[in-house]
Amino acid sequence: MEFITYEQEGFVGIVTINRPKALNALNSQVLEEIDATFKAIDLDAVRVVILTGAGEKSFVAGADIGEMSTLTKAEGEAFGKKGNDVFRMIETFPIPVIAAINGFALGGGCEISMSCDIRICSENAVFGQPEVGLGITPGFGGTQRLARLVGPGMAKQMIYGARNIKADEALRIGLVNAVYPQAELMDAAKKLAGGIAKNAPIAVRACKKAINDGLEVDMDQAIVIEEKLFGSCFETEDQKYGMAFFLDKNKEKVKEPFQNK
Ligand code: CAA
Repeated sequence: MEFITYEQEGFVGIVTINRPKALNALNSQVLEEIDATFKAIDLDAVRVVILTGAGEKSFVAGADIGEMSTLTKAEGEAFGKKGNDVFRMIETFPIPVIAAINGFALGGGCEISMSCDIRICSENAVFGQPEVGLGITPGFGGTQRLARLVGPGMAKQMIYGARNIKADEALRIGLVNAVYPQAELMDAAKKLAGGIAKNAPIAVRACKKAINDGLEVDMDQAIVIEEKLFGSCFETEDQKYGMAFFLDKNKEKVKEPFQNK
C-alpha cells in the first residue's frame, strides 16, 4: 500500500488515508487501496473501524482534480462508479465505521465521511461539496447522502452554492456528532469505538444492518427487517451470556468480554 496505513489496537482497526502532498485527495489508486484495506480486515478480530486522514490539515480534500481534468463522459461515469462502489462497500461494511475528520472534508472527502456510520471532527474541519465551482456535480454520492443526512433544503444550499461550512455549523446541522480539539480527536474516536466494541458484536452488526436496510424501505417492511435480525440474536452465545449475566444475582461476578459468537 502506497497511500493507506492500517493499524489494529485491540478490537479497533484504524485506516489512515496517507497522501499528504495532495491533502489526501482520492485518485484511482487511493480508492483501490481503501477498498483492498477494508476487504482485508479480519472481521473475527476487529469490531469497529476508524477512518481518518494523515496530518493535521486535511481529512480528504476531494477526488483528485488532476486525474479528473481530462476525463471523457464515459470515463467520468466510470470514475464516479469506482468511488461509489468503494463508498457503498464502506457504508454496508458489516461492522461500524467511524470517520475521524481531521481537517478538510471537501467533495469526495465529505462524501467518504458520509458513507461512514458516525462522523466526529476536529475544530479545524471544513466540510463542503465544491463541485459546481469546478463544473461538475458531486460524484461519489454527495447529492444523495448529504440530502439524507441534513435534509434536502440544507443539502441543496450547500451543493448549489458550493458553500463550505466549518465544524460548528456541521455540528449544528447534524453532519457530525461531535467536535474536538485536533489533539483530542483520535483519542475521542478510540473511546467511541471502544464503547461500541465492548458490546455484543453480532448484535451491533445486526443493528447496523437493521438501521441501514430499514431506511431504504417503508415502515411496514422496516419493522420486519428488525424482527428478523432481533430473532437471529437469540441463536448467539453472546445473547445467552448477556442475559444470564443480567439475571445472575451474584453481585461479585465480573462481566466477561463478549465472544462474537
Ligand atoms: N485534487 C488534487 N490535488 C489536490 C486536491 C484535489 N482535490 N486538493 C488539494 N490538492 C493539492 C494541491 O493541488 C496542492 O498540490 P501542489 O502542492 O502540488 O500544488 C496541494 O494539494 C496543497 O493544496 P493547496 O496548495 O491548494 O493548499 P491550500 O491550503 O492553499 O488549500 C484547499 C487547501 C482549500 C483544500 C484547496 O487545496 C482546495 O480547494 N482543494 C480542492 C478542494 C475541492 O474542490 N475538492 C472537490 C474535488 S471534486 C470531487 O471531489 C468530485 C467528487 O465528488 C467525486
